[in-house]
Amino acid sequence: MQYRTLGRTGLEVSLVSYGSGGPSKLGQNTGLSSTEQDNLVQHCLDLGINLIDTSEGYGGSEAILGRALNGVPRDSYILATKCIYKNNDGTLRTPEDIRRSIDASLQRLNTDCVDIMQFHVLNSADYFDVVEHHYPVLKRAQEQGKIRFIGFSEQFMKEGDHKGVVLALNSHPELWDTIMLKYGILNQYAAKEALPLALEHNVGIINMAVIRVKLPNPTLLKEQIDEWKQDGSIDPDSLPDDGPLDWLVHDGVESIVDAGYKFAADHPAISTVLTGTSSIHHLEGNIRALEDPTLPEADKQRLQEALGDISIYI
Ligand SMILES: NC(=O)c1ccc[n+]([C@@H]2O[C@H](COP(=O)([O-])OP(=O)(O)OC[C@H]3O[C@@H](n4cnc5c(N)ncnc54)[C@H](OP(=O)(O)O)[C@@H]3O)[C@@H](O)[C@H]2O)c1
Repeated sequence: MQYRTLGRTGLEVSLVSYGSGGPSKLGQNTGLSSTEQDNLVQHCLDLGINLIDTSEGYGGSEAILGRALNGVPRDSYILATKCIYKNNDGTLRTPEDIRRSIDASLQRLNTDCVDIMQFHVLNSADYFDVVEHHYPVLKRAQEQGKIRFIGFSEQFMKEGDHKGVVLALNSHPELWDTIMLKYGILNQYAAKEALPLALEHNVGIINMAVIRVKLPNPTLLKEQIDEWKQDGSIDPDSLPDDGPLDWLVHDGVESIVDAGYKFAADHPAISTVLTGTSSIHHLEGNIRALEDPTLPEADKQRLQEALGDISIYI
């Protein structure tokens, strides 16, 4: 396992980190028993993963982690969790709600301090409200020793151009120790502005959802590339019609998923790449792919030329 420094936090984080959300949610959505969930978490640690991401919004993930990590020395892993700043009806939660939410996360995670507390899916429309009303609650929790670093995850579904990240890094780079965003073969847009800004301000980048959902699925992948060719988003001759990314599989790159992980780590602003798997087999393969976190330069360049301007989230 390789380790990289997570921006200004100075934390040395494993290049592969574990995400307990996404489609699998630490096996909650894929039928893992509690013993299998505990084994998966232990397997992550055994393979060198030291950063685990969760959220109050991932069903029972925080509580599962609290159980699975019970007895593991607290200083041997880094916990990142998230608080939700909006109610289901779209109104903003109160600062008191956020304060209670932090305490509840600590309780579920069975710890008195989380390393990184992030606002969950912070979008550009809410950004200034959150900075004014909710950020001070996290700051206070930091002063009380309940959290070490403050960050946010982006609302990538609606802001594939990373509007919220760019706004944050242009407005208050000093406020954010870490940002979780999506950068991958099919979502390269962060390389244009968001990632260079993060590098400039030494903000640690946690890369999320790098293969979900289309990269591992040949049918969905072909459909997506076909759609982009038809709507003029990409040059129709830039990628083959059948198996549009199959040419990536050669010389030690064993699958398109492998290529996806390598691409996702092959940027100087990226400190760690989350994997949200519930399968030990997938976990091992994903870690193996990042033993050498680079793609051949010519392949990377072809991906950038073909897909680098796509700004919608998929
Ligand atoms: N805005 C946010 O705050 C936000 C949004 C999204 C994600 N995240 C964080 O980022 C983490 C990772 O994102 P994610 O879980 O959405 O996406 P991901 O890690 O890119 O993809 C996970 C999905 O890919 C499958 N998969 C993993 N490895 C595979 C392999 N080698 N071959 C085939 N399929 C494979 C998993 O299924 P199996 O279980 O079968 O392996 C799962 O369905 C989340 O868990 C969460 O912590 C945060």
